Amino acid sequence: MNVFVTRLIPTTGLKLMVDAGIVVNQWKEPYDVPADELIQICKEHDALISVGQDKIDKNFLTACSHLKVIAQMAVGFDNIDLIEASKLRIPIGNTPGVLSRATADVSFMLMLMVSRMATFMYRKILDGKWGFYDPTANLGVELYGKTLGIYGLGKIGLEMAQKCSNAFGMNIIYHNRNPSLLADRSLGAKFVSFESLLGRSDVLSVHSALTEETKNKFTLECFSKMKPTAIFINTARGSIHNERDLTEALRSKMIWGAGLDVTNPEPMQASNPLLMMPNVVILPHIGSATIETRGEMSRLAAENIIAASRGIKIPYLVNPSAYS
Ligand code: DGY
Repeated sequence: MNVFVTRLIPTTGLKLMVDAGIVVNQWKEPYDVPADELIQICKEHDALISVGQDKIDKNFLTACSHLKVIAQMAVGFDNIDLIEASKLRIPIGNTPGVLSRATADVSFMLMLMVSRMATFMYRKILDGKWGFYDPTANLGVELYGKTLGIYGLGKIGLEMAQKCSNAFGMNIIYHNRNPSLLADRSLGAKFVSFESLLGRSDVLSVHSALTEETKNKFTLECFSKMKPTAIFINTARGSIHNERDLTEALRSKMIWGAGLDVTNPEPMQASNPLLMMPNVVILPHIGSATIETRGEMSRLAAENIIAASRGIKIPYLVNPSAYS
């Protein structure tokens, strides 16, 4: 078995694969593998380790239908045409669970940074504007006892809810496909309608997967239904909110602020007006970017590859129908 990896990944996963007798070839350039080249390279390989930046569409899958497995080193897999992969019986794997804490840490950090306008204040110092003390200036908002609304209460959303409940005694409401008994029992979290989530949240944090249902979900109309003091956080996918509408909502003070670890498109242009707004904090999609978490993600991806090399069902499978 040989596997192609579309970029350099941590040694944890590499070592596991090499020890299992798998030949690993990594793309070493500091840019994405061009689509045509990816097809040509994969024709020479039995398996692929991809990330969210790789476009695994119908064209690629049809040309590379021989692949025994595609192990995505990410929890999200919206870059992969799952229906086509299943039709071609290519198992697709991901890395669930291991990045929940790190990603929720970033949501929590963004919430705090926005509430105290941290990057704007930092920029003020750099600009030589830390001057006369004015008790009415530089004022943020507090989070104690406020209401956190979670859109998409999976593992990451639950981690964020737990942190906010423990740290600030925040009340938790959420909107999901299904109510969560666990969240209700452990945190007293209440399942609410989408409208109610918009109207009641002091902080609204997005944690859903990107699907046809969630794409472009947060529009100007949604922001207009939120509190003028509300903070919008998105660490899931940039296409879940409409960036132009969010900019307008912030400009017209429909909402207090926003913290984004994901943008649309990525990377965000340095000239984007959101970057200069006082109540906005933007990060370059670093939710899972810790040494520990990236090591674990590479381990799960390697376990998927090793299972496929042994002809057994991969452990972190997102399309069970590939085996039916
Ligand atoms: C994921 O795992 O989907 C993240 O967005 C990548 O870091």
